[in-house]
This record gives sequence, C-alpha cells and structure tokens, in this order.
Amino acid sequence: METIVYKLDSTQIDLSIIKKAAEVIKDGGLVAFPTETVYGIGANALDIKAIKNIFIAKGRPSDNPLIVHISDKEDVYKYVKNVGEKAQKLMKAFWPGPLTLIFEKNELIPKAITGGLNTVAIRMPDNLIARELIRTSELPIAAPSANVSGKPSPTLAKHVIQDLKGKVNVIIDGGSSNIGLESTVIDVSTNKPLILRPGGITEEMIREVIGEVEMDPSLFKESTEELAPRSPGMKYRHYAPNAVLTIVEGSIDRVIEKINELTKEEGNKGKKVGVIATTQTKHKYICDNTLVIGDENKPQEIAANLFKVLREFDELDVDIIYSQVFSKENIGIATMNRLLKAAGYKIVSI
Ligand code: TXA
Ligand code: MG
Repeated sequence: METIVYKLDSTQIDLSIIKKAAEVIKDGGLVAFPTETVYGIGANALDIKAIKNIFIAKGRPSDNPLIVHISDKEDVYKYVKNVGEKAQKLMKAFWPGPLTLIFEKNELIPKAITGGLNTVAIRMPDNLIARELIRTSELPIAAPSANVSGKPSPTLAKHVIQDLKGKVNVIIDGGSSNIGLESTVIDVSTNKPLILRPGGITEEMIREVIGEVEMDPSLFKESTEELAPRSPGMKYRHYAPNAVLTIVEGSIDRVIEKINELTKEEGNKGKKVGVIATTQTKHKYICDNTLVIGDENKPQEIAANLFKVLREFDELDVDIIYSQVFSKENIGIATMNRLLKAAGYKIVSI
C-alpha cells in the first residue's frame, strides 16, 4: 500500500489536507495522526473491517481494546450507557486532554473495538489536528498508538514512518507530541474509579476533582495469574527497544559507579552498551552512547523524551541499555511505569 505523508502546522491547519484525510477515514482507510500524548493510528470506530485493519497493521492481539476518540464532549452520550457524576466532573476538568475514560458501552460500539468487553474507552484529545480530523470525518475514530505492537509509542512522525510506512493510507506529520506518554486511563464504569494506566493527568489531579481514586495494584509489577492488570493492554510486553534494558536502583553515586562497571564489563565482551542519563549525571558516565533524557528536576521533560530516547538506541544499534531511576513526582509515575515495562521489570538494586 502506498502511504501518503502530509505535513501540517498545528497553529495554522490546512483544512484541505484534513478534508483529504477525513475522506480516507470515511472510506474505511487508516490515517496516522498526531495527538498531544503520542501519535495514533485511526479508523472509523463504527466500521468493523477498518478496525480489523488497525489490528493487522500494528500486529496487535485482538483482545487488546482500542480507545475511541471524539471531538465534542457531548458525543460520549452517543456511545455509552451511563455517564455518572464523577465521570462528568472528570470530563469537565480534563477534556480535551490526556485522559481516557472507560464506560459501559452501548450497542453502537462494535465488540471488535473493545476486545469483547462490555466497556469502551473514550477520549477527547487536545491536539487541534486530531480534533479537526475527527470533526471533519463526522465519525468517532478508534486509535491505538501508531507503533508496531510492543515497540515504544511514537512521539514524532518519523517514528510512525519507521513502523507503519506501507501499512496505512495516510500519515499526518504534525510535529512532536508534547506530553510524550499515552493518556491516563480511568475506569469509571463502577462507583469506585480505578486508574488502569498512569499518564499526564496524575492521581493527585484526579483526587482534587472526584476525591478518592485507586491505582490498579498491578501497574508496577510483572503481571501474574493472581495480579492480572484490569486493562488488557497492560499485560503485554511493551515499549521495548531492540536492546535488553536494565534499570539500576539505589543511591545515585553508587548507581553511576555500578553502571560504569557494567559498561566496562559488557564492553570487554564485545557488547555495544547505551546509558540513559539526566542532564545532571551525563558527564559522570563513561559510556560512549550516553543519551540525555532530560533535567532531573523536570519530570515533564523526562516523560516527553523517554520513547524518543528508547528509539534512538535502536538507531545506534546497541545490545544493552542501562538506566538510572527517575523521580516519581507528577508524571514521573507514568514514566517509571513505562520504563519498567520496557525493561521487562529487570531491576538491579544496589
Ligand atoms: O494517549 C493515548 O491514549 C493514545 C493516543 C493515540 O490517543 N492511545 C493509546 O492507545 O495509547 P493504545 O491502544 O495504545 O492504548 C489503549 C489502552 C490499552 O492499555 C488498552 O488495554 C486500554 O487502553 N483499554 C482500552 N479499552 C479498554 C477497556 N474497555 N477496558 C480496559 N482497558 C481498556
Ligand atoms: Mg499503545
């Protein structure tokens, strides 16, 4: 399949291009587009054949449900059975934005989207290109992250081209996704809201709006039979670079010492090593392939760069990556959740 790449400036959107992309969605095709979190691969959420093509293009397991994207808050009432008071408060506070809400679905939403579940995930993105595309297509758009299943999510059109060129009809290049991690997912289908995936809207922000909220206890541990995540997608190996990633945890001076030791050891065995550092620690690592993820006091910056840095290691073709731990302040919880998954939960504690 030929993939057309369009470049768009989000401050001055060329509506004729949006119209062309919306036609592709209406015709049952696939359009990758930018959002404020990560790029998505979109199709008409009401067209089962188009949805199946998303799963094929990504190589995604069919039991992993997709998020339905809307351009108007009120559209949520078209697709779900009940919007409770807490859900309404969250929509008012955080839509448009990086928050996905899970509701009991109605009969309009095909089970192909929900992986057979009776619930559906809905999000109203903040990115204007995304919203214009949804609005112009006059359809809800099902869109998972626009990466091949298992790879780090794309934060630049370049990443989408690497993974999906030849597999989608259109890629809209709208620059870099400023948040860089996928949306926070909250299940509001019961009285007890539960965070299934941490993201840009943090637990504290949610608590301020609706009071008590719980975090799925499986989020920071490898899933087992007893501790299966409530969000089907969270059980799969994810966000993984080609190299084996190991996290080293402890007091920062000892961590740097240990990573330098491991760098030497593995280098002597002929392995190409990479290290993820902060602005503050970069000069302390001896590794030639040390990449800076951001300032240790700026959790947003670290979050925004994580997936990009993981993909840069693929380009550098390293065999092994070591990473220190980052602050869990603010969006840092989400960063550490993704880093742990990317590492397959391999942590060395010293
Ligand atoms: O920021 C985002 O959410 C991006 C952009 C493109 O909007 N999309 C995204 O989609 O991250 P995806 O498909 O990569 O992740 C969707 C997550 C998965 O972990 C999936 O299992 C979960 O949401 N999910 C979807 N529907 C669900 C449901 N009914 N119940 C529980 N989890 C659900
Ligand atoms: Mg994804």
